Amino acid sequence: MVRARLSGGILCLLAILILMAAPGLSAKNYLFKTCEQSPFCRRNREYADRATAAPAAWAPPYSVDLATVSFETGVLDGTILKSVLDSRGEPTVAELPFSLVFLESGSARLVVDEKRRLGSPIDGFPSRLTQRRYNEASKWAVVGDMTPDISAIDISTDEERSGGIYRIKYGPNHSFEAVFSASPLQIKFLRDGEAHVILNERSLLNVDQWRPKPTVENLAEDPSLANEIDIKDMWEEDFGGKKDMKPKGPEAVAMDITFPGYEHVFGIPEHADKFSLRETRGGEGNHNEPYRLFNVDIFEYDVNSPMAMYGAIPFMQAHRKGSSVAVLWANAAETWIDIVKTRPNPEAFGTRKSTQTHWISESGIIDVYVMLGPNSASVYQQYGSLTGYAPLPPIYALGYHQCRWNYNSEDDVLEVDANFDKHEIPYDCIWLDIEYTENKKYFTWMKPSFPNAEKMMQALDKRKRKLVAIIDPHIKKETGYKVYEGLVKNDLTTKTENGKEYNGWCWPGESAWIDTFNPKAIEYWKDQFKPGKFCGYEHNLLIWNDMNEPSVFNGPEVTAPRDNIHYGNWEERDVHNVYGMTFINATVQALAARQPRQRPFVLTRAFFAGSQRLGAVWTGDNAAKWEYLDIAGPMLLSHSIAGFGFIGADVGGFFGNPTTELLVRWYQAGAFYPFFRGHAHIESKRREPWVFGEPYTSLIKSSIRLRYQLLPSLYTAFHRTSFDGMPIMRPMFLIAPDNEDILDIDDQFFWGETGLLVKPIVQQGALSTEIYLPDDEVYYDYFDSTIYQGLGYHHIEAPLEKIPVLARGGHILVRRDRYRRSATLMSHDPFTLVVHLDNAGNAAGVLYLDDGETTANIRGAYSHRFFMFSSQDNILRSRSMQPSSVNSRSFEKTIDTVRIEKVLLVGFDMDKLKSATSVESFQDKKSWTTEITVEVAANGKASVITVRDPKVLVTGDWSIQF
Ligand SMILES: *[C@@H]1O[C@H](CO)[C@@H](O)[C@H](O)[C@H]1NC(C)=O
Ligand SMILES: *[C@@H]1O[C@H](CO)[C@@H](O)[C@H](O)[C@H]1NC(C)=O
Repeated sequence: MVRARLSGGILCLLAILILMAAPGLSAKNYLFKTCEQSPFCRRNREYADRATAAPAAWAPPYSVDLATVSFETGVLDGTILKSVLDSRGEPTVAELPFSLVFLESGSARLVVDEKRRLGSPIDGFPSRLTQRRYNEASKWAVVGDMTPDISAIDISTDEERSGGIYRIKYGPNHSFEAVFSASPLQIKFLRDGEAHVILNERSLLNVDQWRPKPTVENLAEDPSLANEIDIKDMWEEDFGGKKDMKPKGPEAVAMDITFPGYEHVFGIPEHADKFSLRETRGGEGNHNEPYRLFNVDIFEYDVNSPMAMYGAIPFMQAHRKGSSVAVLWANAAETWIDIVKTRPNPEAFGTRKSTQTHWISESGIIDVYVMLGPNSASVYQQYGSLTGYAPLPPIYALGYHQCRWNYNSEDDVLEVDANFDKHEIPYDCIWLDIEYTENKKYFTWMKPSFPNAEKMMQALDKRKRKLVAIIDPHIKKETGYKVYEGLVKNDLTTKTENGKEYNGWCWPGESAWIDTFNPKAIEYWKDQFKPGKFCGYEHNLLIWNDMNEPSVFNGPEVTAPRDNIHYGNWEERDVHNVYGMTFINATVQALAARQPRQRPFVLTRAFFAGSQRLGAVWTGDNAAKWEYLDIAGPMLLSHSIAGFGFIGADVGGFFGNPTTELLVRWYQAGAFYPFFRGHAHIESKRREPWVFGEPYTSLIKSSIRLRYQLLPSLYTAFHRTSFDGMPIMRPMFLIAPDNEDILDIDDQFFWGETGLLVKPIVQQGALSTEIYLPDDEVYYDYFDSTIYQGLGYHHIEAPLEKIPVLARGGHILVRRDRYRRSATLMSHDPFTLVVHLDNAGNAAGVLYLDDGETTANIRGAYSHRFFMFSSQDNILRSRSMQPSSVNSRSFEKTIDTVRIEKVLLVGFDMDKLKSATSVESFQDKKSWTTEITVEVAANGKASVITVRDPKVLVTGDWSIQF
């Protein structure tokens, strides 16, 4: 949510309104910096311009001290020297130790630090001013094994080494090679002899060395210094009405990364932009500004923009025919990324361009991970083995979530709840936004609207539904408010640059912020959630962490001042993009401590690399306009490939009022968002699914019911991503990696393991669309089995009641067709298998099942089934995919009566049917026949054979002979 309307933001709002009155200024570019307004970005862009203008004459002040370079036990290290002038104007060098580590997991990691700031005090300066560079972004982002690969070998000749060239073979079967060259400094990463990623190809490596702040006197003595150093920008800055004191001086780090022969790069969420990232240095269809990663509260964000948003994942993937590679720039400070594409180089790459990127961060160290694929699946696995995989969420979290700012009272909540049942629309969670609290004091309830929260929670629980309550990191500064007083007493707030409690404005008015970098603050947070403290009935209570960028209404760029101090003496600027993640981490720890056997569910708005380990995320404050529905697809894809697959956009659009058409179309799209929530602003009209009457209620209902039908398949896809990082929403190139015409198609996507190809309608008035088939496989309309086949675009009708969804041949998807009030209530329902045969007449699919809520799955209490239809013998088989264990057997016992109630076989060649009227089933050494109904192929539609109640059990091995 944003500031609009409420007291805390009023002063600021007035300022914005006054400024907006000036022509050409929108609220957003007043609030947020451009690169030009960000001195470290501007300086590094100018640096790049000088390098690019005359590459031959470009002589960067960096060199490698060859005597320091050595390779041993999986690590190549040494020192880079930067020639600089000291404070007296004398030439000297700044030493930048580097290490290139080859990890056992197959990635390579380059770290460049600065010796002078490595902790040893510098005479005459307080230690705070010479503090080491922040090097803990990796500590938060990366949880994987960091063991160097001792099998990596140096294959360079003595001659090469004496010339400053090291060639190291590493990775699976030594199929990767890193070529380090000292002059000019460059590291090339090769796979099977071909370069895929080049660090510092354009010599844009740039590290602001430590220096004392020049005094007015020595400036007067040496006027040349004034050109070199712009004191105003480097030691303090002014933006948004507050001076940013930078006692440590300039600390930026920058480097370029080239993807040779890759014309398309993806990732670096969060931006409201195309999936294939644009160039950022002007030209038609390109941006003029770099993509910016700096967690901010940006309401009603611009679409097709590189502006910073709520979260930051500095992960970028490059894909082309036959190859996928990626990098992670593990830096938690504000980061800008310029992207340009070269002219094609026909000798090397045919008509393909190369992509050159330039990464610029305000502080911290250079810490880059290089992942060499060779394909997308292995890139996601490599990224997951570094930053962790998303744990399997509880199944109710995959159902439909009903939210609004605000459900105003217990009666309101229970009435909405009852209306879902009245209209027979399933849902799992109802949400409470900030108004449930007493004056925005978290862990309190607004009486009399919520006089007996406990009773309300119990009523919801009876119908197997959950309540998700918002809890933000700003804590109202008020004497007598226990949560605040405890924070202060235990010294757990963030601090100003003078070490005092930091206060700013947010929902409650003047507030303090909990500093969840502090382990004691995490313990304190856990205390607040102890049983009985917040709500007497916590069985079905879950949490939404909003505003954790953090959002500060009167702060510079609507966030905390960069010179604020966190635990460990780090400045906000160093840790900014990680803060939101530490906060949701504390909440997750609190829920886990409260209910150790339950999987926690927490939604966050701010995030960083690795946040996928903690919960779900949504795209923040969008609006009820078609362009926001349109941009949601590409945004969700960007998150999905950057490890954070549990993502959704607010259905209906947060601000404003959707037309009925927009709302219906949004529910159709939302049914396929990994996180599916309807939400609305406090000033928006009510828009629960039944508000608009028929035919809209039924149209919305059928989208939500479709979602619930497909939950077994969705849950299976979430299970897969929890161990190999394969996204839920999959870009076209994941399914057709060698088709280079599809790299910028981002308005359709594949969904989980189902083979479903979804193309939401996102244009007003559209009643049909063109859907692109990326390969020669046969596709079936999911709803009526119409056949589509052939590479390229196909016309498909899409009246308001229809979302275009095709099923790619070769997949078996699993559904549960019965209507229930919530996901939890479906746990013993029978299944339907839908078999979509491929060109060769085969299909396969997977089903993962467990109790849906507890952590017993970690100990093996689950069932994992594999289904296969083979054209060899026309048999559909079910087999177990897991080793049998005590826990798996005890889980399977709880569902040992659950049947497959229906099988649909789509696209079968009727001539091959053994019997036109029945099939024979085999399970547990018994066999029996079941009647079938047959719809023969006609009018462009595939044949469909329906087997009703073949009486096979989901947990057993069985076969059905067609
Ligand atoms: C490594 O080589 C072996 C033997 O040639 C092969 O079986 C294996 O698949 C290779 N592994 C990788 C990761 O390429
Ligand atoms: C949460 O933070 C703790 C440190 O407080 C860390 O050990 C843990 O790995 C984090 N959890 C996740 C899931 O990232």
